[in-house]
Amino acid sequence: MQLSQEQVLQALSNVEEPDLKKDLVTLNMIQDIHIDGNKLSFSVILTTPACPLKGLIENACRNAISHFISPEIEVSVNMTSRVTTQKNTGVPGVKNIIAVASGKGGVGKSTVAANLALGLSALGAKVGLIDADIYGPSVPIMFGLEGARPRASQENGKTRIEPIEKYGIKLLSIGFFTDPNQPVPWRGPMVSTAVKQLFNDADWGDLDYLVVDLPPGTGDIHITVTQSFPITGAVIVTTPQDVALADAKKGVGMLMMESINVPILGVIENMSYFTPAELPDNKYYIFGQGGGLKLANLVGAPFLGEIPLVKSISESGDAGTPVVLNGDGIMDVAFKNIAERVAQQISINNAKATNYADVINR
Ligand SMILES: Nc1ncnc2c1ncn2[C@@H]1O[C@H](COP(=O)(O)OP(=O)(O)OP(=O)(O)O)[C@@H](O)[C@H]1O
Ligand SMILES: [Mg+2]
Repeated sequence: MQLSQEQVLQALSNVEEPDLKKDLVTLNMIQDIHIDGNKLSFSVILTTPACPLKGLIENACRNAISHFISPEIEVSVNMTSRVTTQKNTGVPGVKNIIAVASGKGGVGKSTVAANLALGLSALGAKVGLIDADIYGPSVPIMFGLEGARPRASQENGKTRIEPIEKYGIKLLSIGFFTDPNQPVPWRGPMVSTAVKQLFNDADWGDLDYLVVDLPPGTGDIHITVTQSFPITGAVIVTTPQDVALADAKKGVGMLMMESINVPILGVIENMSYFTPAELPDNKYYIFGQGGGLKLANLVGAPFLGEIPLVKSISESGDAGTPVVLNGDGIMDVAFKNIAERVAQQISINNAKATNYADVINR
């Protein structure tokens, strides 16, 4: 039997991308088909390297070839990815902008933003992180970069800022440009200009995801960021208590206002339960249970996962090595799962927004 390219495409057109609900061939995800006797190889181009369904899709492809053509074929599948985008993000080279927001302060936005960025990077994506919290920047401490100053140069009368690279991601913090010992009162327009510069005047290069850590509440910075750049989506961080939820609802309400209109990618519940290091299987729900899920249901967005309260998070944040990098079992897994869910949600939204036509650029 002479195996043909058409047969392969025909067989693989029976495999559905579970999130996008269309078959891999229609989505143009099957590429580089090579046939050599009964040896077959092809690439599956996923919409993100952080795809949680990678293994499932690969198995479905192998089964389809075996079932619809022949089990005798030696199949080699190259699972790869090209991160999708839906609109010009206003920042050259940047495919998706993810805002991390909350209503209440201190719920763990910065912790989530840093570990989400590193989680996406660990899964193979090109990632940047902007710390847009003028009043309490976190990136310099969390990444051990206190006192760091990004290089800046003048190019045709324009300032070009070089983000600092650490742990494989590109970073800029408003804190790199201020002196922590000399707090300067910022006026509204200055804040707006400074934040826009972090996006516009920096050499971000090619990024799949640019994560933005927003300050608490709903202020000038939120308005500037959301109105100046088409944000792909926002991740809402909350803690299980009712007060946090009430504030989170306000934060979500602002993002969903017609004039702002940022899609909500989902809700993350932080400090969900306490797990003592010496009893890793015990969970104590000290702040109540199910609050994050309730908020997600209320705003009609997916619940992206819960993060336990563990000492290693704050210790590693203070020590300048975010917890994803510690190889701490529970936290590593919690944040990688969340990174996958966020990437998955972006892929789904991007496919819908582009009407599935160019899910993978032809
Ligand atoms: N899951 C967790 N377990 C233990 N400590 C945590 C956890 N999440 C965050 N923390 C700690 O709680 C404090 C507040 O977290 P973080 O700075 O991330 O919150 P935030 O929402 O960004 O705060 P702000 O509103 O001030 O910007 C930090 O000291 C952090 O290390
Ligand atoms: Mg913060």
